Amino acid sequence: MLDLIQSSEFQTALQSLLPAAVGCGVQQATSEAESFEYQEEGSHLANAVLARRNEFITGRRCARMALAQIGQVSCALPKDADGLPIWPAATMGSITHSRGLCCAVAASADEMMYLGVDLEKTNRLSARAMKRVLHPLEAVTVGESQALGSLLFSAKEAYYKAQFPIWGAQPNFKDLALQIHSNTQQLTVLKIAQNLPVQLRDATQRMKFRYQFMGDYVLTLCWLELRPKVLHDLNDRA
Ligand SMILES: CC(C)(COP(=O)(O)OP(=O)(O)OC[C@H]1O[C@@H](n2cnc3c(N)ncnc32)[C@H](O)[C@@H]1OP(=O)(O)O)[C@@H](O)C(=O)NCCC(=O)NCCS
Repeated sequence: MLDLIQSSEFQTALQSLLPAAVGCGVQQATSEAESFEYQEEGSHLANAVLARRNEFITGRRCARMALAQIGQVSCALPKDADGLPIWPAATMGSITHSRGLCCAVAASADEMMYLGVDLEKTNRLSARAMKRVLHPLEAVTVGESQALGSLLFSAKEAYYKAQFPIWGAQPNFKDLALQIHSNTQQLTVLKIAQNLPVQLRDATQRMKFRYQFMGDYVLTLCWLELRPKVLHDLNDRA
């Protein structure tokens, strides 16, 4: 069971999935009451339950570990009105937590355009939720497998987090269909809904998706490195 696996093993697994330009941090939240490292980060959690406060605090700690790996000094990461962490200038990142296990990734905005991470338990997705999450193109491969259904659920959450800071789009789960390549632990895009902006659809086709099962968790990552073609996209939007 993953609950018995040390965060350091998870960190090693996470690092092996990521391009070198991305920093990462993994930590298990404790069950003791923790203090906010930066008070301005936690004002919205004054009345939150202990588990949520601790996940938030640990997620922020992971984010600062990830930022340190790309040369950033420690700083507050408050949230914006949409619930997104406000990353230091010229950086980007993503945070996830599930049942106390927390992960974060961060990169320089000079090197990365999209970046999302997600962590899910593999034994919690109901058959009903699976129907809501899976595109018909995916359903054939997944069948009754809760683990594969959870993998696709997680990958779509990672995708949502990667695109949201740029586009603010709110795609449905069935707007994206992914193909699982279990031999390489990658996913590729089979289909993306036509109602999404054309530049986002184009970027989505070029995004990398990686995953790793560990115990009863699945971790997924989604990113797109900044290349000249993407710079053209940005210029088109300006
Ligand atoms: C926002 C969302 C992606 C969070 O995922 P989750 O699995 O519930 O929770 P996680 O622990 O993995 O991630 C939570 C973290 O994501 C970040 N986050 C919150 N809203 C976000 C957003 N709109 N975009 C990017 N990141 C967001 C925050 O850092 C948050 O942690 P924090 O509050 O401690 O800072 C999810 O709740 C959601 O709204 N999904 C929309 C539906 C969807 O994914 N559709 C698939 C489209 S293909």
